[in-house]
Amino acid sequence: MDLELLQGSEPKQSTAISATGKLLIYATGGIAVGVSIICIPFTVLPALRKVCLPFVPATNVQLERVAKVLAGRSGKLLDVGSGDGRIVFTAAKLGFQADGVELNPWLVYYSRLAAWLNPQYRSSRFFRKDLWTFDLKPYNNIVIFGVEEMMQDFEKKVLNESKNDTVVVACRFPLPNMVPVETVGSGVDTIWKYEIKK
Ligand SMILES: *[C@@H]1O[C@H](CO)[C@@H](O)[C@H](O)[C@H]1NC(C)=O
Ligand SMILES: *[C@@H]1O[C@H](CO)[C@@H](O)[C@H](O)[C@H]1NC(C)=O
Repeated sequence: MDLELLQGSEPKQSTAISATGKLLIYATGGIAVGVSIICIPFTVLPALRKVCLPFVPATNVQLERVAKVLAGRSGKLLDVGSGDGRIVFTAAKLGFQADGVELNPWLVYYSRLAAWLNPQYRSSRFFRKDLWTFDLKPYNNIVIFGVEEMMQDFEKKVLNESKNDTVVVACRFPLPNMVPVETVGSGVDTIWKYEIKK
């Protein structure tokens, strides 16, 4: 196989790893892309509606904006619906103890492999769990790229569980009732930053 060709299409976060690692990342990246077009049935409490939560990778603009609104923050970060892990890895680079929760097993395996291959990301954990049973309390920073149907229930969950001085960063859809402390961008790239004060 032509390694140069493979390296040309490698994901950005794998720059510091071996050629074997690059091949693995490339191979699993192919799987992640294949899985991405499948809709995942997503149980939304309390109404038990099924919501299609397609995997749409975060764009560089979105990553930059998430990084921007997290400036000055530290501690633990959770990415809800972590997809291929790129938000978690961006946060890890910024010094957060960053974890992801994701329902799609292939994306979880892909993220774990990418984390294992890169020393910079090795402390990141990826949980294959349903968000609605996942404990948000340990995290003082939460990022969510949601779908509209889940934002109301997510807002309730985060207000109930999160500690004082937790920052919530929402992309694509805002939290329906809370007032953001900062809004960056417009359209699908909009980022809303919220602060939970208790
Ligand atoms: C709030 O969170 C606690 C756990 O921290 C849970 O037991 C309780 O059911 C939640 N209440 C609501 C209204 O979601
Ligand atoms: C919540 O956190 C803020 C910022 O750290 C702090 O100023 C405030 O006193 C805290 N509130 C309570 C009730 O602990």
